[in-house]
Amino acid sequence: MLLQRIAVYTAFFLALSHGAFLPKPDNGLPVGEVGKGGGKRTKDPGYVRMPVSRQKFKGKGKSERGWHWGLPPDLDDKPPAVQPGRPFEPTSRPSHSTPSATQPTSLSATPATQPPSIHRRAADRRWGWSSLEELGGIAYIIQFRVFVDTGSYELWVNPRCSASASDALCQTFGNYFPSKSNSAMHIGGNFAVTYGTGAVRGSYWSDVMSIAMFQIPQVQFAVAADSNYTFAGILGLGYTYPHTIPYPSVLNLMVSQKMISAPIFSLGLGGDGDGFSEIIFGGVNRWKFAGPLVPVSIWPPIKEQDPRWVQYWVNVTSVGMTRPGEAGKLYTPREGFTMPTLIDTGSTLSYIREDLVAVIGQQFNAEIDTQGNYFVDCKYRDMPGTVDFGFNNGAMVINVRYKDFIYQLYQGRCMLGVQPADYGSTNYVLGDTFIRGAYLVFDQQSDVVWMNQYYNCGDGVVTVGQTPRDTKNVFGAC
Ligand SMILES: *[C@@H]1O[C@H](CO)[C@@H](O)[C@H](O)[C@H]1NC(C)=O
Ligand SMILES: *[C@@H]1O[C@H](CO)[C@@H](O)[C@H](O)[C@H]1NC(C)=O
Repeated sequence: MLLQRIAVYTAFFLALSHGAFLPKPDNGLPVGEVGKGGGKRTKDPGYVRMPVSRQKFKGKGKSERGWHWGLPPDLDDKPPAVQPGRPFEPTSRPSHSTPSATQPTSLSATPATQPPSIHRRAADRRWGWSSLEELGGIAYIIQFRVFVDTGSYELWVNPRCSASASDALCQTFGNYFPSKSNSAMHIGGNFAVTYGTGAVRGSYWSDVMSIAMFQIPQVQFAVAADSNYTFAGILGLGYTYPHTIPYPSVLNLMVSQKMISAPIFSLGLGGDGDGFSEIIFGGVNRWKFAGPLVPVSIWPPIKEQDPRWVQYWVNVTSVGMTRPGEAGKLYTPREGFTMPTLIDTGSTLSYIREDLVAVIGQQFNAEIDTQGNYFVDCKYRDMPGTVDFGFNNGAMVINVRYKDFIYQLYQGRCMLGVQPADYGSTNYVLGDTFIRGAYLVFDQQSDVVWMNQYYNCGDGVVTVGQTPRDTKNVFGAC
């Protein structure tokens, strides 16, 4: 059964409804869809689906690391939170008589004065992004143009375009002008995060956010006063309130506003040439996988993770390959192997144990450059093999097609989809080069990531999260 689509052209974005500049979707695609199983909208929680585009970007070549986040600031730097049950009190009302055409005036009036306190060394260890930035990377952006990032947890907007990877691209993504919004409220506080060697800082605001047809009245987010490297803001979809931040995230608010039943979202990013990428909050697209979705528990458990940095870690229990025309081979012991790995949409490549990268590299006759990057012949992308990642002791194996696994920097230049994690580090990451092979459901209600092999055989969304683990009842239609 195909759902009736509700094409909504309201931007999925921070209010901007009060006269501020609103970038128009230029490709005629619906910006979002709200549904409830049968396609009829009611007041009951349903799902919200959004197209996601894959955006290639080029780095500036200055940094050794990618655009990804480092560790969050110290606990005592926690952002100010919305007082529950009490409406926001704006600390400063933006002036409406003097709207600034270029820069939000209220921002320049409230510069971030305190330097961020950051576990810099830990952050440097953590984000071993090799020299991806120089090589260009890929990130996912929602139609409303912020990166979709499972590896961070806050929403922030207004990157400094002149210091971004692409000024021109950045300019087209639109800006948020608090001074042009009647409903903007300044919360203050210092927002400061590092990513690799770059950083973002700014302060907190709240405003009405439109998601498909719904409006969420008081969404707290950060407005950057300065940022380096990134050309779009970021929608962090990691674990938030009450874990990492003292205010509710967009995902939390979608639940409390009864748009969706539980903090669950699905990602079908599609493989190369598939032309399909979407995120569904509170729902699952049955036509993007076959059979049941398998629950892979988050490990270490949420309670045992650093409360400032709770993330989607899972155990990878095997790594192997299925070469064209051959039987599958494991490069890890059949039993007892575990590699705790972060599932991170903010990472173009995957980062795993060096010895495993070396074995996989051998199969592709990879050449290692002086910076330790593994380059391979692009011809492999057209071969029918897969690189295989196992979970739950082999009960679930995702076979990533060479085409999705091998990352093409540009015509004729290709990189292995896995690179070694930093020396001596166990910060393993499954990024884009894994995620495109899988259909993934991030479930904060039950602390699992549901997964199965990605296929594309049609379209139809069902609502999940009405009861815990009801995702297990959703059978893939492919
Ligand atoms: C961005 O880089 C410039 C130049 O290195 C630096 O002055 C500025 O403080 C950086 N911005 C942030 C937010 O760290
Ligand atoms: C993950 O691996 C660790 C170490 O082998 C093991 O103790 C733990 O039970 C595993 N967790 C899950 C959820 O399988």
